[in-house]
Amino acid sequence: MNAMQNVMIRMIEYDKADPKRIQHFLKVYQFAKLIGEMEQVEDQMQNIIEIAALVHDIGIKISEEKYGSSAGKYQELEGPPIAKALLKDLGYEPSVINRVCWLVGHHHTYHNIQELDHQILVEADFLVNAYEDNLTVDAIVSVLTKIFRTDSGKLLLKTIYLDENQM
Ligand SMILES: [Fe+2]
Repeated sequence: MNAMQNVMIRMIEYDKADPKRIQHFLKVYQFAKLIGEMEQVEDQMQNIIEIAALVHDIGIKISEEKYGSSAGKYQELEGPPIAKALLKDLGYEPSVINRVCWLVGHHHTYHNIQELDHQILVEADFLVNAYEDNLTVDAIVSVLTKIFRTDSGKLLLKTIYLDENQM
């Protein structure tokens, strides 16, 4: 197994008996990987984007246990230490772990997105959540104009969710 498959297996184990959550991060991973490749990001960033997509929601479980809520602010607080322990255990170097943990801690922060890895993670999460949360066409158009920035993410969102007359 390669390193990414190890992360995938560990996350499937982490979310065991919760197929919905497992399906969620596998889909976010696939879209994040695709956008990164379409945008031709450099290898190190591509690696970080893919790992971050697999672990981005790692804080949900403990947030629900601790606060009875999976609100973004709790996830962003609780997620990074768990992600750090998991990635350390898998032998990742500190530079990768630190960046992935930062992304886990900011994946619900949509204002002031500065870096491409953060942007791609947010877009990939929306590409999946738009379906899972049954977003209205109006909400999707709003997300498209307010949050999406990459050409690849915009193209995917439009192609998947909007008819030509809705754009
Ligand atoms: Fe998510």
